[in-house]
Amino acid sequence: MPLSVVILAAGQGKRMKSDLPKVLQPLAGRPLLGHVLDAARGLAAPATYVVYGHGGEQVPRAFEGSGIHWVLQAEQHGTGHAVMQAMPSIPDDHLVLVLYGDVPLVQLDTLARLVASAGPDTVAVLSVMLPDPTGYGRIVRDGAGNVVRIVEHKDANAKERAIHESNTGLLCASAGRLKGWLASLRNDNAQGEYYLTDVVVAAVRSGCRVNAVVAPTQTEVLGVNDKLQLAELEAAYRRQRATALMLEGVTIVDPARFDARGPVTVGRDVLIDVNVVLEGEVKLGHRVRVGPNVVIRDSEIGDDTVVFPNCVIERAVIGPGCNVGPFARFRPSSTLDAGVHIGNFVEVKNSRIGRGSKANHLTYLGDTIVGEKVNVGAGTITCNYDGANKWRTEIGDGAFIGSGAMLVAPVKIGPGATIGAGSTITKDAPEGKLSLERSRQQTIEHWKRPEKKC
Ligand code: UD1
Ligand code: CA
Repeated sequence: MPLSVVILAAGQGKRMKSDLPKVLQPLAGRPLLGHVLDAARGLAAPATYVVYGHGGEQVPRAFEGSGIHWVLQAEQHGTGHAVMQAMPSIPDDHLVLVLYGDVPLVQLDTLARLVASAGPDTVAVLSVMLPDPTGYGRIVRDGAGNVVRIVEHKDANAKERAIHESNTGLLCASAGRLKGWLASLRNDNAQGEYYLTDVVVAAVRSGCRVNAVVAPTQTEVLGVNDKLQLAELEAAYRRQRATALMLEGVTIVDPARFDARGPVTVGRDVLIDVNVVLEGEVKLGHRVRVGPNVVIRDSEIGDDTVVFPNCVIERAVIGPGCNVGPFARFRPSSTLDAGVHIGNFVEVKNSRIGRGSKANHLTYLGDTIVGEKVNVGAGTITCNYDGANKWRTEIGDGAFIGSGAMLVAPVKIGPGATIGAGSTITKDAPEGKLSLERSRQQTIEHWKRPEKKC
C-alpha cells in the first residue's frame, strides 16, 4: 500500500519556556522537526503532511521548498484531532504513518518495521518498555496477549499504571479505516481531548488486529518537552554519531567531546582530538588528523592533511598533505592544492592556493589565486575591497611576497616575482623581478633620545 506520513507538530511546548516553537528548537544544529523529516524521507513516502499550529507560519517558513504539505490545526484539541486535519487529503488506499515532530531520534529501521507490520486490517503501534512509564499511555493486552486498547496515564487505574509497556505515540494504519475510527472519537476523558490512542479500541471493535512493535531502544522514541530533555537527546545523538564513526575505524580521543552534526565520510586511520565539531557535509581523507578545538563545516580534507588546533574551516576544499593552523580560518570557497601550508592567524576566503605554497603567519588572502610554490610572508594582506567592490589578486608560480606587503587588488604578481617587505603594491609586478615600494631609510646622526624632565 502507498504510504502517507503525518507528522504532528502543532503542540505548544510550554515547558521549553522559549519564544521559538518547540519543533524548531535545535538538536545537533538542526530543528527537531528536521530530524523527523529526515527519518521519514528514508521511507520514500509519496507525501508527507506536517500538522502545525503553535508558532504559526514560523514553522512552515523554516522548511520552505521542502515539498511538505502543511496542514493547519488552529486550535489543539488532541492528537486524534491533529491527525484528523490531514486526513481529507489522504486517499483511502494509503497507509498512514503518524510521527511526532518532537521525537527526533527515531530510526529509519524502526519506522520500516512499524510500516511493515501494518496493513489494510492491521494497525501497528510502536511501544517501548519503560522502567518508569509515568505520564505515558499504557498498552493494555488481553489474557491472550492481544493489544486491546491504550490508556492514557491520567485516565489509567492502578493496575493499568503498573504496566511498563508504553505508547510512543507513533502508529501506522489504513487511511480509509483511520478516517472512520477518527470520526468516532469522543473527548470525554481526563484531558477533554480527542485522543489518537482511542483508535485502538475502535480498531479492535471493528475486527482489526493491533500489533505492538517494540522499539529497540528507549532513546530513539524519547520526546523533548524541556531544555533538560533537549540536552539529554543532544548527548544521545552525540554518542550515536561518535559510536558509528569509531566503528568505521576513526580514533576519537574523547567521544563525549566530539560532535558530528551532519553526514561525515571518512577514510582509514583518521584521528580526531577533543572538542571537534563537524557540521554539514564533511569528508575526511585517509590519515587526516584533526587537532583540538576545530570546527569544520561543509568541507573536504585530503589524505594525510594535518589540521592543527583551533581552526575554523567552512566550505573549503583542502587538498592532500597540507598543514593548516593552528588558528587558521577558511571562509567559503577556499581551495588548497596538495602540500599547502597555512599557518597561524591566516584567513583565506574565496581563493585558490597552488601546490606547495605557504602562508605561514598573520595573513589575509581574499579573492586570490596563488600559483605553485609561492611563499607569502608574514603579515601580507590582499586588499580586495575598495569599499564598494571586491577585486582579485593573482600571484604567479614561485613568487616570493616579502613580509608586511599590501597587495592592492586588482593586481597581478608575475611568476617568480619578488615583492620587497613592507611594500604597498598597486601596479602589476613583472615576472622574475624585484618590485618594491618603500621610502628610503635614513639615519639621523647625533640624534638623542629625549630625557625625562623632573
Ligand atoms: C501522547 C500519547 C501517549 C504517549 C505519548 C508519548 C495520546 C492521546 N497520547 O501523549 O499515549 O505515551 O504521546 O510521548 O496521543 N499535538 C498536536 N496537536 C494536538 C496535540 C498534540 O499536533 O492537538 C502534537 C504535539 O505537538 C506532539 C505530539 O502531538 O508532537 C504529542 O502530543 P502530546 O501532547 O505531547 O501528547 P502526550 O500527552 O504526551
Ligand atoms: Ca509529550
